[in-house]
Amino acid sequence: MTLSEFQRLASGIADEGEKLVAAAQDAAGLEEARTALVGRKAGRLPELMKQLPSLPPEERKEAGAAINSVKQKLEELLDARRAALTTTAPDDRSIDLTMPARRRWKGARHPVTLVIDEIQDIFRELGFTIALGPEAETEWYNFTALNFPPDHPALDMHDTLYLDEGVVLRTHTSPVQIRTMQKNKPPIRVLSPGNCYRRDFFDASHAPMFAQIEGLAIDEGVSFVDLKGTLTHFANKFFGKTKTRFRPSFFPFTEPSAEMDVECQLCHGSGCPGCKNTGWMEILGSGMVHPRVLTAAGIDAERYSGWAFGMGPARIAMLRYDIPDIRILYDSDVRFLEQIAR
Ligand code: DAH
Repeated sequence: MTLSEFQRLASGIADEGEKLVAAAQDAAGLEEARTALVGRKAGRLPELMKQLPSLPPEERKEAGAAINSVKQKLEELLDARRAALTTTAPDDRSIDLTMPARRRWKGARHPVTLVIDEIQDIFRELGFTIALGPEAETEWYNFTALNFPPDHPALDMHDTLYLDEGVVLRTHTSPVQIRTMQKNKPPIRVLSPGNCYRRDFFDASHAPMFAQIEGLAIDEGVSFVDLKGTLTHFANKFFGKTKTRFRPSFFPFTEPSAEMDVECQLCHGSGCPGCKNTGWMEILGSGMVHPRVLTAAGIDAERYSGWAFGMGPARIAMLRYDIPDIRILYDSDVRFLEQIAR
């Protein structure tokens, strides 16, 4: 073979390569073209390269250069086609401008979380800090230290979920009162949000797991006036200026005890099914911490006094957002949660 013959063959491969590469319509087609042109086994260019020794030695350098430049050109063509095939823009007819845009789902804070955060903010302004306690609690913290008599119905297996002998899933956040008083000297002002458990049916107003927020304030000379003043302030901050009332109640761990009602947030006192026509809605239990509870927690009951409260943020969320059934709060249906989320 002569040099000029060799060069003609090389440029023929380049021309053919250009057509082959342009004709490839997808990755597989392109790979076929690549194998045919530069494939190590029987590619056109490597085959031509094998002819190199048949040229006179002084012409081989030039022939080799021809091979290299064709090789480079083919690589560039292959690369460019590969890029074009992977980023091909859809032609105009494939875009449907009337199609609705795809909706982006945003995360949303749960209504109960919103309520807990807001309540925490109000009490934080009053100097309360946050205290947390375990959800698996001993009977002593959950009941005994809180002055429940041993035969109190709440200790019954039908209300309380027992994990082990003497160990329960806490039925309320009140045991955190005891843990806090054991660890801290008065003055004490804490708020304690957390989950609680009871063997309840799951119906429109009960859930076997529910959140509570406990509050506790202990100092010298603290009286029922402080309880009333603070909780009334809270209700006005949280609901906006609203009527409140205290009704006598009973809890083993407080004496005296009171439940606080706010004006029904749905009918503003005129009476509706939501408030069973009373015009009021109960939002929390409270009272002066029983001296026996102070003593059980190692606080000098002669010197110190205090008050406490407990409320259910799910109930408050239902009041505030007019949610008729507590189970909605546990379905985690984003369409519902998004309506309330901020
Ligand atoms: N622990 C009570 C319950 O679960 C709520 C409660 C009432 C907490 C009065 C208190 C309180 O701290 O003073 O029903």
